[in-house]
Amino acid sequence: MILFGVDFNCQVVQAVVAVLVVGFLTVISLLKFYAYVTCGYFHDRVKMNGKTVIITGANGGIGKETAREIAKRGARVIMACRNTDSGNKARDLLKRSAPSRIVVVASELYRLASVNLNNISPTNSWCTAYLYYVSKYANIYFTLELARRLEGTRVTANCLHPGMIDSGIWRNVPFPLNWPLKLIIKGFFKTPVQGCQTSVFLACSEEVEGVTGKYYMDCAEKGLSSGAKDESKAKKLWELSEKYVHLRTTDPKI
Ligand SMILES: NC(=O)c1ccc[n+]([C@@H]2O[C@H](COP(=O)([O-])OP(=O)(O)OC[C@H]3O[C@@H](n4cnc5c(N)ncnc54)[C@H](OP(=O)(O)O)[C@@H]3O)[C@@H](O)[C@H]2O)c1
Repeated sequence: MILFGVDFNCQVVQAVVAVLVVGFLTVISLLKFYAYVTCGYFHDRVKMNGKTVIITGANGGIGKETAREIAKRGARVIMACRNTDSGNKARDLLKRSAPSRIVVVASELYRLASVNLNNISPTNSWCTAYLYYVSKYANIYFTLELARRLEGTRVTANCLHPGMIDSGIWRNVPFPLNWPLKLIIKGFFKTPVQGCQTSVFLACSEEVEGVTGKYYMDCAEKGLSSGAKDESKAKKLWELSEKYVHLRTTDPKI
């Protein structure tokens, strides 16, 4: 067969194609193996009997695996749905059952963004994913500010990057980008089980008892950019958010 002027019956061409395919598969397998051995696993079989764990976004992806892992450890797992009532109940329950922990799933992608307090939802950006990066930055500000506001209550708040995970989050990537992305996801990304490890670690491990206002990756603490540690910006973002969600003076405050 002749394609683009190349005679594929020629043995040399066949050998080159074979070497390229084997080389490609070997590189993918090595990278998968590397991702497997460098992934932080939470192996401690610590039990969670008598504890209640509320997980938002628990019907898919990382949240679902987090729910499964924590339920296996004996906790009562509440898979929270999308409404404010359950949010308020969750907060009151956390305070009542102190010592308790809040774990926020942020992302390393925050490093590609910055939060502009004059335009916190930059829908005018040419890159639509930029909004997501900003939201992940806001997750970090939120966690750090929450941790400060909860000081002395024995309720801790920490955030994390789960890794790049093969989950439903990529479902809206448009054609034709979704095709090569699928290959990259299957080749290089972690599974949801691997993606939930740091969340489970932060929720269950005795190692992080009392630790608050920190950022984790692969079950280990990780430094944040100096911008992300800006306390006054985090406080202003909190106050702005209160306005955006129309918090009334009569609403419970942290
Ligand atoms: N996947 C990654 O590579 C990656 C990397 C870094 C960080 N993260 C973060 O990890 C978290 C979980 O992501 P995932 O990868 O597991 O995604 P996913 O498979 O898309 O699951 C997202 C979950 O969140 C729920 N959800 C989405 N929008 C919501 C809203 N507005 N209010 C309440 N619940 C909502 C979904 O519920 P419905 O089914 O009802 O929509 C679903 O259960 C996210 O915060 C994401 O930013 C993911």
